[in-house]
Amino acid sequence: MTAPVESLRSNLAGSGPPLFFPDPEVPAVFNFDQGLAAPETFPREDLTRLAKLVLQRDGAEVLDYFDPDTGYEELVFGYKGLREQIARRIAEKQGVDLGPRGVILTSGSVQGISLAVAGYINKGDVVVVEAASFPYALRFMEMAGADIRTVPVDDNGMDVDALAEILRAEGGRVKMVYTIPTFQTPTATEMSLPRRKQLLALAKEHSFLIMEDNVYGDLRFAGEDLPTLLSLDDTGLVIQCGSFSKIVAPALRLGWIAGQPKAIEALAAVRQDLGVGQWLARVMAEYLAEGLLDPHIAKANLVYKSKAETASRTLRERCGDFVRFTDPQGSFYLWVEIDERIDWDKAAKLAEREGIFFRPGERFMNDTGGRQFLRLAYSHVSEDVIARGLETLGDILRQCARVPA
Ligand SMILES: Cc1ncc(COP(=O)(O)O)c(C=O)c1O
Repeated sequence: MTAPVESLRSNLAGSGPPLFFPDPEVPAVFNFDQGLAAPETFPREDLTRLAKLVLQRDGAEVLDYFDPDTGYEELVFGYKGLREQIARRIAEKQGVDLGPRGVILTSGSVQGISLAVAGYINKGDVVVVEAASFPYALRFMEMAGADIRTVPVDDNGMDVDALAEILRAEGGRVKMVYTIPTFQTPTATEMSLPRRKQLLALAKEHSFLIMEDNVYGDLRFAGEDLPTLLSLDDTGLVIQCGSFSKIVAPALRLGWIAGQPKAIEALAAVRQDLGVGQWLARVMAEYLAEGLLDPHIAKANLVYKSKAETASRTLRERCGDFVRFTDPQGSFYLWVEIDERIDWDKAAKLAEREGIFFRPGERFMNDTGGRQFLRLAYSHVSEDVIARGLETLGDILRQCARVPA
């Protein structure tokens, strides 16, 4: 008898879980689940114009694997014109001059993360991550056979003293630290400047790579920018993920990893999907060249600011002291701790029945130590949905309180 196809799966495929989400039984009326850019901010007119412009201007080359003037390096690094624009912007904003060989274009930053893991991690190498982190990054590390260690995150971001403990215990086994220092997901915290410096000093002392995930770094609507790890580094041990997904539109599937060319070489060495699409890369090169990106981000941040305020205000007014959270200073999320007086299993079921969707805290961490968290993404839903959804959540929490408020 022929064996079923599932029995032929590799160990890796068999070890799931697939990172997509099952269809909900009820429609998501209040969808605070995925962290998506607001569709009303997508620059559709400019993208339509530029898609046509580059096709007409650059002819058949737009539809080819690579630009013949640059040659085969684009099969590995992607369209040079866009790498130059990204490198220029990094030089302007972060004061680091990397040049086009210091940028590799990827299909979303998530592919960049996978290349960095493939380029640096051997089975058994230790990778240190924040105790709640981006699940897709963790899965790539698991697939590479990394020994993943976690350090806690507090109001000042990653607890770097806890990292120092691991380094003392593990000697040279720590190969990489993956961190989201600016608008950490899911906790929305920021790593303080002293901790950023301390982390870099540890990298220098113990020689490990820092992967700085900066996909939310431009989405600030309150507070002051802190220098990135890349900008503070003088060792060449920092690589930084960036992406158009959160700041322009995710369907572009265009991200990048930036770093000193020597550090990027390892990613280039394991890349063999023949690069990113020329057409959209040229569209985005033109978008940057015309100076459209920064005004666009500034406008989008006003949208996120207003949505964040609506979400915080409604939570405060309608959920009272059953919830604890910090007002976000940027990005898409509120990280909400639910008070222990709430029967959260019951409340979560009722919320689902009302069509309120959010990302449960456990998805980001192995152990919540009995505490109950949820990540609320306010970015891509309307203010009306935010207000009505969180009002309904407040009613549910009151119903599920073990002791009345
Ligand atoms: C922290 C973080 N890094 C990277 C990504 C990947 O985004 P993309 O591959 O669309 O650039 C996401 C998306 O949710 C994210 O939250």
